[in-house]
Amino acid sequence: MWSFTKAFGIWPCLFISTVSAFCECGYSVDPPTSFVLFTDLFENDFLHSPNLTGSGWIPQQYNVEQSDSRGPYGKQFTTSNVVSNPLKDPYSWAGDSVLGGDAGLQLWARKDNDGMIPAAEIATERTDFLYGSFRVGMKMSKVNGTCGAFFWFHNDSQEIDMEFLSKQFHPPSGPNTGAVNLVLQTPASLQAGYDASGTPDFSTPSLPFPPDAAYHDYRFDWSPDGVAFYADGAFLHVMNVSTPTSPGHLVLNHWSNGDPAWSGGPPEQDTAVTVSYIKAYFNSSDPAMQAAYRKRCPTYDAKRVCEMLGGVGNATNGTVAHGEGARACVKGWFVVVLAVLAVYCIS
Ligand SMILES: *[C@@H]1O[C@H](CO)[C@@H](O)[C@H](O)[C@H]1NC(C)=O
Ligand SMILES: *[C@@H]1O[C@H](CO)[C@@H](O)[C@H](O)[C@H]1NC(C)=O
Ligand SMILES: *[C@@H]1O[C@H](CO)[C@@H](O)[C@H](O)[C@H]1NC(C)=O
Ligand SMILES: *[C@@H]1O[C@H](CO)[C@@H](O)[C@H](O)[C@H]1NC(C)=O
Ligand SMILES: *[C@@H]1O[C@H](CO)[C@@H](O)[C@H](O)[C@H]1NC(C)=O
Ligand SMILES: *[C@@H]1O[C@H](CO)[C@@H](O)[C@H](O)[C@H]1NC(C)=O
Ligand SMILES: *[C@@H]1O[C@H](CO)[C@@H](O)[C@H](O)[C@H]1NC(C)=O
Repeated sequence: MWSFTKAFGIWPCLFISTVSAFCECGYSVDPPTSFVLFTDLFENDFLHSPNLTGSGWIPQQYNVEQSDSRGPYGKQFTTSNVVSNPLKDPYSWAGDSVLGGDAGLQLWARKDNDGMIPAAEIATERTDFLYGSFRVGMKMSKVNGTCGAFFWFHNDSQEIDMEFLSKQFHPPSGPNTGAVNLVLQTPASLQAGYDASGTPDFSTPSLPFPPDAAYHDYRFDWSPDGVAFYADGAFLHVMNVSTPTSPGHLVLNHWSNGDPAWSGGPPEQDTAVTVSYIKAYFNSSDPAMQAAYRKRCPTYDAKRVCEMLGGVGNATNGTVAHGEGARACVKGWFVVVLAVLAVYCIS
């Protein structure tokens, strides 16, 4: 007779070998021009995460005094302005949140606190992102006068930004449609005093929806050929004049310094940007990560590449995934469970 215990005494090995049947050769994305391959994955599901422990993200705590803030107010980034607010029901993708309001990771910008505007920022622990497709699900501030940003950073002359100014979707008149500022900080913008607006690497396309009314997917794909930007999977713009070439980390923040030329504000009420997920398919500058890729994909095999389509989607349920194979593990488990059920039932 078929023996369950006998067959599955080697369970961990079976698990590992099943895992290695997915995505070992990486992730492909769908840019407008050419096929791009990335080796690794980093995902966060903030709809189901009770806190940032083990997420790979670090809440930031620092002040930028008014004298350095390039605006009439200083900025006060505190960890207490980063608030996890998961769904009450861990088994659903919508519904009430634990703290009320929109579920996800909240980044609060608050009313003026004696010349300093309370703000929020998180940054990834890892600094090895070297090319990738970076995606975030988020709902922007409903209150006029803040800047919410999703960006990749190496240094002041190598930076890729998607910046949302709430004043651009709170016009004094006209419909509440949105806009997003797409920016590469480059040697040219640094020379212009951190002002990219006169360089080729700056663009403010309008969006076909108000960004403060619902979650949307914002994305940039960075390869040696340039940086392409998207909203809800729809191509917005490409920049290829001063493409960054060094590894860096990801940052999300929400702030105001009262600068009428940029953030506007300060906000008249406390206001949050809410993040539902992060999904990144990327190449790592870390030799250990590169060696791990060569080991799990010694010969390139297109059948072992997972295709990552654009558009809005859920992050892998409940997963905090970093590095290789994490999504593969989840898929691998399903296959193992199905295979076990099938074998068990027919025997
Ligand atoms: C974070 O959440 C996990 C459950 O996922 C829990 O075990 C842990 O104690 C929490 N940590 C903090 C600091 O609250
Ligand atoms: C999320 O994962 C948990 C644990 O694996 C599972 O029980 C639940 O059904 C999943 N929820 C959704 C919405 O897929
Ligand atoms: C940014 O980094 C690049 C590459 O490491 C370097 O060449 C450049 O000088 C740096 N720029 C600044 C402003 O530090
Ligand atoms: C990422 O790394 C893989 C494996 O080395 C390589 O084939 C691919 O071209 C790299 N992608 C980019 C955009 O450089
Ligand atoms: C940059 O993009 C433009 C427009 O897509 C294209 O015509 C040009 O060849 C690209 N330049 C480089 C250096 O890739
Ligand atoms: C938002 O603030 C800007 C100034 O930063 C102002 O011009 C605009 O009228 C405000 N919009 C609304 C709807 O109050
Ligand atoms: C997220 O997953 C749930 C359950 O599978 C599905 O109903 C929902 O449409 C998904 N949301 C998106 C934006 O894909």
